[in-house]
Amino acid sequence: MRARRPSLIGALVVLLTTFIACSTKRSPSITDPKGSEAHTIAGVWWLMCGLAAAVYIVVGGFILVAAFRGRGTPEGRPSRIRDNTFIWVGGIIVPALILLVLGAATVHASNTLRKPEKNALRIEVVGKRWWWAVSYPDLKFDTADEVHIPVGRPIEIGLDSDNVIHSFWVPQLGGKVDLIPGQHNVWRMKATKEGTYRGECAEYCGLEHAKMNFLVVAQSPASFDTWALRHQRPPSEPVSQLAANGQVVFMRAPCAGCHTIRGTTAQGTIGPDLTDIGSRLTLGANTVPNTEGYLGGWIVNSQTIKPGNLMPPIPLSSNDLQALIAYLRSLK
Ligand code: CUA
Repeated sequence: MRARRPSLIGALVVLLTTFIACSTKRSPSITDPKGSEAHTIAGVWWLMCGLAAAVYIVVGGFILVAAFRGRGTPEGRPSRIRDNTFIWVGGIIVPALILLVLGAATVHASNTLRKPEKNALRIEVVGKRWWWAVSYPDLKFDTADEVHIPVGRPIEIGLDSDNVIHSFWVPQLGGKVDLIPGQHNVWRMKATKEGTYRGECAEYCGLEHAKMNFLVVAQSPASFDTWALRHQRPPSEPVSQLAANGQVVFMRAPCAGCHTIRGTTAQGTIGPDLTDIGSRLTLGANTVPNTEGYLGGWIVNSQTIKPGNLMPPIPLSSNDLQALIAYLRSLK
């Protein structure tokens, strides 16, 4: 009897460690849902987890009983349960019932997901190598690697790719949806709580797959409107002399050939739109925080931060670099 306790305690420790590891902030978990679709998926997950745990406990119990008692009854007589009964009940009827319950729950959950809703906010996301082009077709502006959405309103994200297959996944908001060249997929959901949620590419897509992440910022409808309104206007002209010099450097250096800054002559489309780069939280598709130091490092040689990305090193004098940093950080 004594040996049973360590085995149960061991199993509990493993389970608890897994849950703690999965629920830390750095690792977004599907068991911490913050969106309509994620809530539905989490429900199915907990049902599966519960049934699996029940099977584990029952089977583990049988193994322990068999190990300690043998095939006989306590009085030494042969067991009255015939082997066939075990096979019929434990091997066919119970598994069939469990699969039936799981199948019904999955079909029901799948049917409730991704239904078109009125008044949905349309967003288009295109998977690039290795970043995300984000546009708001009705509001008429573009950004990158950061999707802002209002809490409570239905969101409809169109997903496309112009290169290889990527997969758009925000564990706390919903399931994975692939971005497939030539096929337009749509992900529909509603955020239920304000917050900044980490998303990532969930389909191996080349050298920088692991660093193809993004953020979804779910905010109150009022603060989303403020954010959207600010983004609908092109950025104002540089106010400081340093930033004005930086704008000249940007248009002269190779930058303008690859990036767009609305309201200027920079209309490149190879790299991310930089119209709001000063207000974004991260650089390089959520690779590093958007600080002055990282921005400078990124411009000089982004390959040291995200090896394999498509931006070449940009050799600049110290003065030009400082000016360029000031200009980019003023774009909000
Ligand atoms: Cu894009 Cu992996």
